[in-house]
Amino acid sequence: MTEPALRILGLNQYYGESHTLWDIDLEVPRGACVCLMGRNGMGKTTLLKTVMGLLPARSGSVRFEGVELLGRPVEHRPRLGIGYVPQGRDIFPLLTVEENLRVGLAAGRGRRVPDRVYELFPVLARMRRRRGGDLSGGQQQQLAIARALVLEPRLLILDEPTEGIQPNIVREIGAVIRRLNRELGLTVLLVEQKLPFARRNADRFVILDKGRVVADGPMPELDDALVRDHLSV
Ligand SMILES: Nc1ncnc2c1ncn2[C@@H]1O[C@H](COP(=O)(O)OP(=O)(O)OP(=O)(O)O)[C@@H](O)[C@H]1O
Ligand SMILES: [Mg+2]
Repeated sequence: MTEPALRILGLNQYYGESHTLWDIDLEVPRGACVCLMGRNGMGKTTLLKTVMGLLPARSGSVRFEGVELLGRPVEHRPRLGIGYVPQGRDIFPLLTVEENLRVGLAAGRGRRVPDRVYELFPVLARMRRRRGGDLSGGQQQQLAIARALVLEPRLLILDEPTEGIQPNIVREIGAVIRRLNRELGLTVLLVEQKLPFARRNADRFVILDKGRVVADGPMPELDDALVRDHLSV
């Protein structure tokens, strides 16, 4: 059996005394697009940050292609082949588009921004010399995704890439994620609260409720009862 791209086993995380993630088991098969879902405050960002090493885990295991990540410094992830797009984008407003992308290169041993990145986001090619802060919210999100792609990761992790973005750009971002996953074979783990976006772009779902995995499966199994019990507000 081939090792999944990402395998999380028995993961527990605390903020101080506050137990936030409880015995998380989660698998992202190679080539899959898995959507991590759940209402606000259920632990989605905490889980991604713990995988990325930005928060310490209390116990458990996080393996990427069989390699244990817990205990390794944050900067190992991009070198191993993991790209991360944080919630809220976090681009550098005073750097140009091109400089923002070169910062992504600096996280690993990349030498130049691959042409494919500009090809995936033509708007960034056109705005190469503009400052990040002058871009619209949707363009900044595209820049944040592009920055995560410059080292040509095999696993891309995105935290709510469509939050606060106008519908036409949401569709463009969905199309890019689909293309990365289905045509270019990138494995994707995506946090997303918009149901239609999740249904259209992901092939599996995992639901977090109060820091626990309460359901997972192929996307067609995400039925009305699950939505009512764990997702609708
Ligand atoms: N730095 C922190 N210190 C203490 N508690 C925190 C911290 N960050 C988040 N929390 C708490 O941990 C829980 C999970 O938060 P988290 O941000 O992971 O949720 P989320 O599912 O990503 O929510 P959202 O959909 O709003 O982004 C929440 O109860 C939150 O208040
Ligand atoms: Mg979050």
